[in-house]
Amino acid sequence: MEHGATIGYVSLNEEVTLDQLPVRGTIPAWLSGSLVRNGPAKFEVGTESFQHWFDGFAMLHRFSFERGRVSYANKFLQSDSYRQSMEQGHIVGASFGTDPCKAVFKPSMTEVVNANVSINHVAGAYVAMTEAPLPVVFDPRTLETLGVLEFDDRLTGHHGSAHPHHDANNHRTISYLTEFGMESQFKVFAIKEDRPEHTLIGSYPVTMPSYIHSFSISEQYVIIAEYPYRVNPMELLMRNRPFIENFKWYPEQGTQLIVMDKGDGSIVARFSTDAFFSFHHINAFERDGDVFVDLSAYPDASIVTNLYLEQLRHNRARVDSTSKSEFRRYRLPLSHAADAVTYEVLSRQGIELPTINYRRSNGRAYGVAYGVSVDKQRPEAVSNELVRADVNTRTTTIWSEQDCYPGEPILVESPDARAEDDGVVLSVVLNAHKGNSFLLVLDAHTFAETGRAEVPHHVPFGFHGWFFPDIGAGLDPNPFNVKE
Ligand SMILES: [Fe+2]
Repeated sequence: MEHGATIGYVSLNEEVTLDQLPVRGTIPAWLSGSLVRNGPAKFEVGTESFQHWFDGFAMLHRFSFERGRVSYANKFLQSDSYRQSMEQGHIVGASFGTDPCKAVFKPSMTEVVNANVSINHVAGAYVAMTEAPLPVVFDPRTLETLGVLEFDDRLTGHHGSAHPHHDANNHRTISYLTEFGMESQFKVFAIKEDRPEHTLIGSYPVTMPSYIHSFSISEQYVIIAEYPYRVNPMELLMRNRPFIENFKWYPEQGTQLIVMDKGDGSIVARFSTDAFFSFHHINAFERDGDVFVDLSAYPDASIVTNLYLEQLRHNRARVDSTSKSEFRRYRLPLSHAADAVTYEVLSRQGIELPTINYRRSNGRAYGVAYGVSVDKQRPEAVSNELVRADVNTRTTTIWSEQDCYPGEPILVESPDARAEDDGVVLSVVLNAHKGNSFLLVLDAHTFAETGRAEVPHHVPFGFHGWFFPDIGAGLDPNPFNVKE
């Protein structure tokens, strides 16, 4: 394929259900459940095209595992903008970075948004999420879109996160909202584990809100990084511009790191450090009275403009994008507030779409992170290798293959796991040479391949997914006619 990775930004129009994918190698027999992934998959309607990668219409992909076999299904999320665009033959609806005439930032509390970023389990519902305040509920078995997750209350706000955190000890999910206005507010809230009800944990005023994609939690705290990628809220609300084009980079203001008490919402500390930008926090934990925050850091916010489709499709983004991300560990000196914030780089490789053993390690000291990265010797894509970073020994292990472009790795623990990396890592990899994708299974400890299952078509590059151990193939209860 002469176009290499750019096939990852080509629309996939077909919706299919495949009961059994051809497997090479071995898929562990214990691996049972479904990996559901989300990402943009359609970039044109009629003669019109989205301009930013983040705007493509969401498609859900499900890989289900049972006794060493793999099935696959995919479906477009039936958002209001998708349905109306299909009906009208042109692009309808608000967007992140596309057309100023269509993309005025007007969030509505009833619209089924184009939730193309992540998959999660919130308030007992399976949801697709983006940065609009309301998640979209889907059936993980059929991938049917069921509608907006309606909350009993009205916690107001315009812009949230596709990366809520599960605060397992307190049986709740934590996330945030920015409310833009004359007096903008940043609000941290909790959602009950079993029903859609918000509780405000804490809030603070912000004059020029920052573009924030994720945050982290530790045992006691919520940690927010406010990058100097800021917006005049009134301009955002009044002006007819794509959402992200209202934000400007103010490096002289530095990045603010805010530590909020998870219990009473009080601001425990606010630190300032040299400007950096990040989409993804990796983890946070407390040690000796200080807070440590690991994240995928960029020197500035140019990654956002590098992800316009025009840039990606001509590979112009390559050197400036993921290859510049650094796996940084920031120390927030709560115990000696007079100390400066410092950071260490934990991996020689950059890291993006980072994941950890979430259930076991989120909010605690941990040992291993996984992500995608760019081989600096061949910086020809947003990601062309998978990285396993041992954050204690500071060593990395890489998986890569010629013409292959992997997506976010997801760790699944084996049933008898003793260590955090006892299990496998799953990643959907685009093979640009063959023009299709495969589900790759790596041993989470050695990072050696155990097997792969091929999909007949290409899966456009996606963002985030979630593994649901309880969700089977949803077809026949015994789809492969395995004898009991
Ligand atoms: Fe993300």
